[in-house]
Amino acid sequence: MFRRKLPETGGAGPKLRKVLSAWDLSLMGIGAIVGTGIFVLTGIVAATQAGPAVVLSFVIAGFACAFAALAYAELAASVGGSGSAYGYSYAAFGEFMAWIIGWDLILEYGVAVAAVANGWAGYLKAGLSAAGYAIPEMLTKGPFATKSVEIAGEMQEIADPGLMNLPAIGIILILMAMLVIGVKQSARFNAAMVFVKLLTIFVFIAVASQHIQPDLWSPFMPFGWFEMAEGGKTVGVLAGASIVFFAYVGFDAVSTAVEEAKDAQRDVPVGILTSLAFCTIIYIAVSGLLTGVVSFRELNVDEPVAFALTRIGIDWASALVSTGVITGLTTVMLVLFYGLTRIIFSMSRDGLLPHALGDINATTHTPVRTTVICGVGMAVMAGFLPLGLLAELVNIGTLAAFVLVCGGVIVMRIRHPEMKRPFKTPGGLLIPLLGALSCGALMAFLPVTTHIRFLGWLLIGIVLYFAYGMRHSKLNAPAVKKAKEK
Ligand code: ALA
Repeated sequence: MFRRKLPETGGAGPKLRKVLSAWDLSLMGIGAIVGTGIFVLTGIVAATQAGPAVVLSFVIAGFACAFAALAYAELAASVGGSGSAYGYSYAAFGEFMAWIIGWDLILEYGVAVAAVANGWAGYLKAGLSAAGYAIPEMLTKGPFATKSVEIAGEMQEIADPGLMNLPAIGIILILMAMLVIGVKQSARFNAAMVFVKLLTIFVFIAVASQHIQPDLWSPFMPFGWFEMAEGGKTVGVLAGASIVFFAYVGFDAVSTAVEEAKDAQRDVPVGILTSLAFCTIIYIAVSGLLTGVVSFRELNVDEPVAFALTRIGIDWASALVSTGVITGLTTVMLVLFYGLTRIIFSMSRDGLLPHALGDINATTHTPVRTTVICGVGMAVMAGFLPLGLLAELVNIGTLAAFVLVCGGVIVMRIRHPEMKRPFKTPGGLLIPLLGALSCGALMAFLPVTTHIRFLGWLLIGIVLYFAYGMRHSKLNAPAVKKAKEK
């Protein structure tokens, strides 16, 4: 059988410090996962795509993620390397696919931070206005914002433009400054905020479970399983699953920290699987309760969880939850932002992106230049683009990465059966196959416009690879030689 030597990404060049434990990594996972997906998108999807059956959307998306998480855990433990799925694809598929997946991950993490910043701004706006400090409306949304209104008995989306989302821009710039300061400090800050976020969720579960009205769960599935609506939009439980999938995005961020983990082969799989299992249970509970205390039709708002508590008249819990969500979403952005800089760092160290992006600052031991460039880029996206558009783009990028990671497990099993696998996905090739299929199906349920935007991003990536990456790669020596001979 054809076997090739395992290429290693990130072999030479500056190193990051190994300071993160399994505990840090699990908290980092929960920090990255629980966020805008559960606190904001649940309401939007319940109101516009799935009804109370949004809970099924969470279960379906959770299964797809569990398969992918197992694939991630196997590759994180055995292939290691740097830069998450980027590093694994390098080993499994070679450089071109690795570049594609790296480019795709830049989209996933970069746009995700901007999307979460939008959710964060929504809760901040609600919290401040409840306290009597309203932010001028024009500074809370970008020029492409829309809103749902009832016209002739039907909910329709109409344009509702503003100037820019100033709070979303502000929070990204603050996090940028934190990440410049250093990773261990950020991990400690993250742990404290994850704790607050979990407390918030438990308060919601405890209060909401006392106010359930079972009638609200019927009709349970008002939009059916799946339907392609006008203009390429999609509705139904499966379409909802492809959107609430966003709520799970982030468990893979743990794998971007592989180089900074104390015992990566053990700690990274533990971190990925623990955080995903925990979050899935919480999502099912929260989404089920949310549609059980308020009619799903009312949930298309910026801050559905706080809104539901206000509707049932528990104002103190609403204020507490808003504060917790603001804190909780900060951790999501922090971890995803961190992941983004580490992927770019790895890719530039391997020569696929300009060398300057891989520099580590001697004082802070962090990639300062990359952090600042990413921060400014994401702040611009967050300030001007709406949440729905950003979340759909994140999902398609992430799902594509998951399909490739599952494919990577299959390829590595066939090409390198001898490889030591400290963690092996049980059941032969079944789980990675199911992972690739279910993530592929979720991609198909996304709107047509999202597919077009994603293809555009991939095309830019392909052009960049042939124009730059292929010629400067430090790993793909033959390709570099060939390019120089020309
Ligand atoms: N899973 C993260 C969130 O829901 C990205 O905010």
